[in-house]
Amino acid sequence: MGEQWDLIPLELDPPEHGKFRQLLNPLLSPPAVARLTPRIKERCAALIDRVRGVGDCEFMGAFGRAFPVGVFMELMGLPEDLYDTFIDWEFALLHAPDFGRKAAAAVAIRDFLRDLANQRRAHPTGDLTSIVVHAEIDGRKLSDDEVKGILYLLFVGGLDTVAASLGFFFRHLATDLDQQRMLRSHPDRIDKAIEELLRRFSVVTTWRQCKVDVELAGARLKAGDWITCNDSLGSLDPSEFADPMTVDLDRRNVRHLAFSFGPHFCMGSHLARRELSVALHAWLTTMPEWRLKPGAPVVVHGGLFGVEHLELEWAA
Ligand code: HEM
Repeated sequence: MGEQWDLIPLELDPPEHGKFRQLLNPLLSPPAVARLTPRIKERCAALIDRVRGVGDCEFMGAFGRAFPVGVFMELMGLPEDLYDTFIDWEFALLHAPDFGRKAAAAVAIRDFLRDLANQRRAHPTGDLTSIVVHAEIDGRKLSDDEVKGILYLLFVGGLDTVAASLGFFFRHLATDLDQQRMLRSHPDRIDKAIEELLRRFSVVTTWRQCKVDVELAGARLKAGDWITCNDSLGSLDPSEFADPMTVDLDRRNVRHLAFSFGPHFCMGSHLARRELSVALHAWLTTMPEWRLKPGAPVVVHGGLFGVEHLELEWAA
């Protein structure tokens, strides 16, 4: 967009980073997530109602991407009539094949969030945006760029990650029907199963910028170099997890790295777990058994690992 601002708190270092985490953590804490949960469940049920009687769906379009967009709108207190616009923006920003559409979506989202922040500055409503624009750090209000960096990160951080996880989880359960049946008969085991599925399908690749020249395992890195750190591969470390590529729903001590670790540990992990839990509970307790549609390709991608296209079917 030709602008320089940080995604906050992700692109800040300590001690600045800690000040913003302190401010933002309560907005995504377990009590905050508990308050959102009834509406999250309603959104989930409404999306399922749209496809139940049809007998099949392209899961990512019908549910995987749409569900987290709805949750983001709930989090931000945004009105329902913006839902289709947000779905379009999300798809264009994160999945459009041409760069022009991506850039246009990035600008549209930035402008929308900037206008929203201005409205809440003038007329606070008590929602997340109002809290952010009226917050203080070190005795001063946040700058426009800081507000933008926070709201933008909440938008991009919580959408594709949840969508990607849902895609992999639903694909896995479509191919391992024994596990799907076991969870149907024991819904009390779903939340534990989610931890094993997060371990097996840790989707985020983090990246960092070198501060100083350093030699690491024979590679010379210079200050300013960008490096990708696939720390989520720790979730597949055979010295920690026996038979790491297998989804073992009886596995004990699932210390996965799906949400990373250290100061930047995912700020939305409580919300993410709740979204995954609501989705799996609803599908496993109110929908017939789902399978992969025979002959339909499953398309996955790298970068932030994700599922592009996933056709499921069930007995309507
Ligand atoms: C299954 C879903 C999710 C996964 C796998 C995930 C994963 C991660 C990972 C690995 C990081 C660390 C990134 C880094 O260190 O570079 C992170 C950070 C973050 N996540 Fe998530 N995330 C998920 C959902 C969410 C949701 C729903 C939200 C909020 C709406 C969210 C908000 C954030 C924020 C704000 C950070 C930055 C934290 C900081 O820098 O201190 N995430 N996430």
